[in-house]
Amino acid sequence: MTRIRCDRTAAWSALQNLFKQEGQAFDLRSAFAADANRFAAFSQSAPHVFADLSKNLIDRRTQQLLFELARQCGVEQHRDAMFTGAAINNTEQRAVMHWLLRTPLPAKADDSAETTKNVASELAQVHATLDAMLAYAQTVRADPVITDVVNIGIGGSDLGPQMAVLALDDFVLRAKRFHFVSNVDGHELAALLKRLKPESTLFLIASKTFTTLETMTNARSAKAWFEAQGGTDIGRHFAALTTNVAAAKAFGIATTFGFWDWVGGRYSLWSAIGLPLAIAIGGEGFRQFLAGAHAMDQHFRNAPLELNLPVRLGLLDLWYRNFHSFGSRSIAPYHSALRRLPAYLQQLEMESNGKRVDAQGEALPYGTSPVLWGEPGTNGQHAYFQMLHQGTDVVPVEFVAVKRPRHPLPGHHDLLLANVLAQAQALMLGKMDAGGHKNFPGNRPSTFLLLDELTPTSLGALIALQEHRVFVSGSLWGINSFDQWGVELGKVLAKDLELRLAHGDLAGLDGSTAGLLSRLRSNDR
Ligand code: F6P
Repeated sequence: MTRIRCDRTAAWSALQNLFKQEGQAFDLRSAFAADANRFAAFSQSAPHVFADLSKNLIDRRTQQLLFELARQCGVEQHRDAMFTGAAINNTEQRAVMHWLLRTPLPAKADDSAETTKNVASELAQVHATLDAMLAYAQTVRADPVITDVVNIGIGGSDLGPQMAVLALDDFVLRAKRFHFVSNVDGHELAALLKRLKPESTLFLIASKTFTTLETMTNARSAKAWFEAQGGTDIGRHFAALTTNVAAAKAFGIATTFGFWDWVGGRYSLWSAIGLPLAIAIGGEGFRQFLAGAHAMDQHFRNAPLELNLPVRLGLLDLWYRNFHSFGSRSIAPYHSALRRLPAYLQQLEMESNGKRVDAQGEALPYGTSPVLWGEPGTNGQHAYFQMLHQGTDVVPVEFVAVKRPRHPLPGHHDLLLANVLAQAQALMLGKMDAGGHKNFPGNRPSTFLLLDELTPTSLGALIALQEHRVFVSGSLWGINSFDQWGVELGKVLAKDLELRLAHGDLAGLDGSTAGLLSRLRSNDR
């Protein structure tokens, strides 16, 4: 597999010329006026997700060059390498196979006999673990004594299951409450423990490595609380979701569900890390969730680039970041149950593509991951949409809307949909005849993702779509989207500072940290 960095291709130079000549002056309103078929040409159906890309700052020529760029960078070969189990996470020498977690038995045909054999044996393990985990989920669901399920984990071991349990609230078993504890700040766990009883609580300790400081600290405190409250049966009240089964056993947890080093933390929702979701929506629902994601995998794997939604989104991300120099993207889910989607996507994209060197370690001359942020609509409209409409920076917005509601309240859903349409329209059309402060420049881009309904299947497809679009932009940028060395330095420094906080040793510290540490240790209030 040959990967060529985007800036070393002929298509990149052609795009630079095009941007200078016409791209930077592109106007959406003129583009719609000139092209009656713009909506059709720039919309894309993918499994369970429809995307209107027509309100983005691209025309057919730009889009064509972007597809050429993808071809010249070897995105298809890179994608195929991922789907055949090659070790594309080159800094950790690991395969990247979260997609296998949602592949049904038997495996779909792979490219080489060698890889087929490897992947087939992994797939058998995946399904054995999935079956065991769903059977356990069913036991918990059927256990009337367990009323509270507490997931203790952070990052990928928290954001995915938390986002999905909230998103699928309409499918969640009513007899249980689901809690997510992630922060090492003891306020979070302490506040929850006040409301729990040991005999009715199940703690799920979710950690790929089973070494993460926050999770291990919270797990130890939860276990100490459980024992102090008279709890005895750790086997019944604690389970671990981890690749490090030995560490979980050493911690005293006998019930464990494993996964593999080829599942990145931020891609692990489909593995045992999804257990809270499986308990919440049941085994059938969880399988539908996997099936939705698998349908998107197939689309990404098989659709030609021109009709491939993750590819089209990833190319737009590059176009905005590297040509228009937009530094962020706002996520606007117009469904209150998707309120943790922006946080989930922050980790997915920023931890994957927030890199300043390419896969060979060479410094990059262009920007990579944008800042992702957002809140559910319509709330965001009454907070930061002012800046989106009239601020000095252009921020592409990604709207996510759902056609059919699952509540019976009359009137609400049409108002919600009218608002999401209106925001996208206002960003694009603007209004320059109101005068001074009241003018809107318009020509502000947005993407509109539409689900028919928010179900386990459509949520699975939506999340897999996002995973693959992050793959595409990372692939174009020539980076390794599957490591996260940038989180390490802070972890090391925190260990040192924890000791210094205890003993007051300031030797060798920079002036600011020394000053703050002294202040934190002083008795003055
Ligand atoms: O510190 C970052 C990170 O490694 C994430 O990539 C990961 O999702 C999170 O920590 C939690 O890691 P673990 O599941 O091993 O506890």
